Amino acid sequence: MVVIAPEWSFDEAEIFALYDSVGWGPWTRDIARVCRSLANSHLVITARDESGRLLGLARTVSDDEMICYVQELLVDKEFHGQGIGRRLLEHLKERYAHCRYFMLTTDHESTREGVANHAFYRRLGLIEHHEQKLSAFGLRVGDT
Ligand SMILES: CC(C)(COP(=O)(O)OP(=O)(O)OC[C@H]1O[C@@H](n2cnc3c(N)ncnc32)[C@H](O)[C@@H]1OP(=O)(O)O)[C@@H](O)C(=O)NCCC(=O)NCCS
Repeated sequence: MVVIAPEWSFDEAEIFALYDSVGWGPWTRDIARVCRSLANSHLVITARDESGRLLGLARTVSDDEMICYVQELLVDKEFHGQGIGRRLLEHLKERYAHCRYFMLTTDHESTREGVANHAFYRRLGLIEHHEQKLSAFGLRVGDT
């Protein structure tokens, strides 16, 4: 049984193991910063099994009115393909259904990660900005 629930405090070793399982080096290089970003988020939900093992996590940045930005959604590599990512994202879609914008950034479809992520997000009903005559802009993503 997988339980999806909000959490407010974060164990660095546990968070490291989850992010490391999907090879997110820029995050695991400073796990204390990741834990601060989780603590400062609007909402963090986790997926845990009956023993309490952390299987996945998603977090949002939001004003709870106009915009919900999904920043990070990941499932421990060992547990991919078991519907956990779907449950995390469906939970967020429902929780923020009243917001005008429900958005996220992910790798471009021309990359290996992008191919997988685009397939996942499309399966969950999300569409790319340009498909609804919108564009997303940002400063160049740096190393920090
Ligand atoms: C993307 C990610 C969160 C998906 O989680 P998951 O638990 O493996 O996905 P699910 O098992 O819930 O899959 C949900 C649906 O997406 C589809 N899907 C998932 N990964 C897919 C892939 N690589 N290719 C094609 N379809 C895929 C599944 O077939 C499934 O469809 P269904 O529910 O209609 O049968 C997970 O692969 C992950 O953690 N990746 C690394 C971190 C990352 O890149 N996160 C996203 C960028 S922010």
